[in-house]
Amino acid sequence: MKNVVLTGFMGTGKTDVGRLLAARLGFVFLDCDSEIERECGMSVPDIFARLGEEAFREREAAVIARLSGRDHAVIATGGGAVLRSENMARLRKNGVIVCLTASPEAIVRRTAATHHRPLLNVPDPVARIKELLEIRRPYYEDADILIDTEGKSPADVAGEIRDHLKRFPDG
Ligand code: S3P
Repeated sequence: MKNVVLTGFMGTGKTDVGRLLAARLGFVFLDCDSEIERECGMSVPDIFARLGEEAFREREAAVIARLSGRDHAVIATGGGAVLRSENMARLRKNGVIVCLTASPEAIVRRTAATHHRPLLNVPDPVARIKELLEIRRPYYEDADILIDTEGKSPADVAGEIRDHLKRFPDG
């Protein structure tokens, strides 16, 4: 089977779900943000602070170009990866795109206790989340499979994705 690519806003559970799904499918799990951090030797907040968002996006595109060449992988992308059409074209060529969704309220709840997301490190994160969600909605909705994660555990979501993947038997 082709790769399974997880997209979706920050806090929709891409990493937790991706790990579980990879284990169930017997695939390798690859996390774009972790790969960027490893290659840069810096955390994502440090990359944003020292080099800026544009430099982060360049590194993200390079990592995606490399990872999209793999197979039998579950690839968790960062929430903004969908914004570059070249990223999605590469990932789609060799993968099924699965977008995880959640309401703005759930995203606010899930991201409130975390401090590793520079884009939400602003005086009014709720307004920021709503604004970014509005801008990104059409990009997220362009996925092959959309999964609402509201009120579900990562295991539930991984199971649901597995069921949907039966429609894509040999990729
Ligand atoms: C971002 C999402 C983050 C990370 C970076 C930018 C975004 O990943 O790539 O902070 O633009 O939505 P997660 O979606 O895994 O939090």
